[in-house]
Amino acid sequence: MNRTNGHTLITGASMGIGKAIAEDFASRGENLVLVARSKDRLDALASELSSRHGVEVRVCSEDLGSEGASGRVFAFCREQGIEVGCLINCAGFSFTGSFTAIPEEELRQMAMVNMVALADMTRLFLPAMIGRGRGSIVNIASLAAFQGVPGMGLYSATKSFVVTLSEAIAEEIRGSGVRVFAVCPGFIDNASFYDRAGHDSKRILVPISTPDVVVRAVRRGLASGSTVVMPTLFDRLMVFTQRFMPRRPVVMIAGFFAGAGEK
Ligand SMILES: NC(=O)c1ccc[n+]([C@@H]2O[C@H](COP(=O)([O-])OP(=O)(O)OC[C@H]3O[C@@H](n4cnc5c(N)ncnc54)[C@H](OP(=O)(O)O)[C@@H]3O)[C@@H](O)[C@H]2O)c1
Repeated sequence: MNRTNGHTLITGASMGIGKAIAEDFASRGENLVLVARSKDRLDALASELSSRHGVEVRVCSEDLGSEGASGRVFAFCREQGIEVGCLINCAGFSFTGSFTAIPEEELRQMAMVNMVALADMTRLFLPAMIGRGRGSIVNIASLAAFQGVPGMGLYSATKSFVVTLSEAIAEEIRGSGVRVFAVCPGFIDNASFYDRAGHDSKRILVPISTPDVVVRAVRRGLASGSTVVMPTLFDRLMVFTQRFMPRRPVVMIAGFFAGAGEK
């Protein structure tokens, strides 16, 4: 019997954190639906995980930055008779540089992938979970959600959206048997993420964790009742100390440590 009672659908599963979560879930016997654009990577991962762990892994290649993408993923699951017991919204990306340097299309894509697709996937998959009285939705946010980060302004704002939305829905559905929570990692060692963002990771002045730290935080979140999960003690301390500081220094310090401003 699958531990999450149904398939676990992971967006952004082709690499980085989403791929690490997929590997962990498959190793625990979970059947999966993998979503991202890179079909070749997803197919390769699916065949590796199914042959190594004997789980069923379906691939749904979709551009979550395109109009109606979440609806197509939802329709794929319905047509294939897949019951999604756990949804992990992990797809996302960043842009590093001054806010006015962001190209219009980049701004729209980030809003679509980091916010609209995540909200739409949640809207589509949540009702059936509530109907069954069980299920989980895990939204991968970021430590950047807790203050604006100069040099990563749009990204930090999209991640604030993720935390705010997760908190509100968690309260709306309390008692339904379904969990919604946000996981808020600090910097994670992952070249693809920084390359995509144009972020020189050598300029980051805080500890950088490995993706398995996020995997463990997802597991911890699933086992607990928390609505916002911080992967490390450092992450928790960063957010806790903000309570005793005025906002401007909080924002300045975040930008300084992120090393995301002008070179
Ligand atoms: N790395 C960090 O330091 C860090 C820290 C905190 C939070 N996070 C968050 O963790 C999540 C995963 O990040 P990561 O480090 O694993 O980055 P990554 O290695 O660049 O992976 C991003 C994933 O999102 C998918 N994706 C991007 N655009 C997409 C689109 N338009 N449609 C469908 N899928 C798309 C990518 O797949 P395709 O390119 O194949 O589509 C890939 O699977 C993100 O939400 C990120 O904001 C990362």
